[in-house]
Amino acid sequence: MKPVLVVSHRGDNLSAPENTIASAQKAVAIGADYIEFDVRQSADGVLYVMHDETVDRTTNGTGLIAEMTSDEIDRLDAGSWFSPDFSGEKVPRLEDFLSHIKGLCKIYCEIKEAHVADVVSLLRGFGSPDEMFLGSFSPEIRQEYRTIAPELRRNIQLHVAGSLEQAVHHEQGHIFEFLETNITREAVQAAKKRGLETMIFIDTPNTELFAELVRWQVDYVNLDHAALFRAVQQEVLLAAQ
Ligand code: G3P
Ligand code: CA
Repeated sequence: MKPVLVVSHRGDNLSAPENTIASAQKAVAIGADYIEFDVRQSADGVLYVMHDETVDRTTNGTGLIAEMTSDEIDRLDAGSWFSPDFSGEKVPRLEDFLSHIKGLCKIYCEIKEAHVADVVSLLRGFGSPDEMFLGSFSPEIRQEYRTIAPELRRNIQLHVAGSLEQAVHHEQGHIFEFLETNITREAVQAAKKRGLETMIFIDTPNTELFAELVRWQVDYVNLDHAALFRAVQQEVLLAAQ
């Protein structure tokens, strides 16, 4: 059995504030294979790593990131909400975020709302296509990156595509992503048979399912509880020897 690759969701978001350089560094430190992060763009066109549409939940500011200038965003504190230990942590500019992990970790870039060409231009500076893949919940953004960056691998969720057939034909996906609620051994096998890699997004510490994912030979786990998953995986791999 081969080890399942770990995708650290928003960086190691249980030990550092999500989508910050600190969370990316923690993910690298725990040996994540990939870091997942979200991209948005300021009113003056600067790309940032942030999940929500507004800065309210994860910074000391308020408002829509798309309506704020980079001067305003750069002044925000994106760490104190998580813990005083991270006070002063910035909302990372995508360019800085990538430069901190270049050569240390591969990436899963989820584009929430941004000009795709601007994102792709930074990603091409980060590394080769085998070091990254893309995803988006926006059909327009997915259409755009299929057109302008066909060389980059694309993740598509079962609940977004609707079916494996749609994921293959319409979305032209490379990675097929399940949820805890829709994954089965059979569905994983069917996707693999169609030549797709498989991934699950799982934000709970479901150790029983973790063990099954290793046995089912899912390719990637996109998750919060990376250390726990690694421990379960080691047990399953040892028992299989
Ligand atoms: O692949 C999608 C997954 O990364 C979920 O991301 O932005 O809903 O936390 P998000
Ligand atoms: Ca995301």
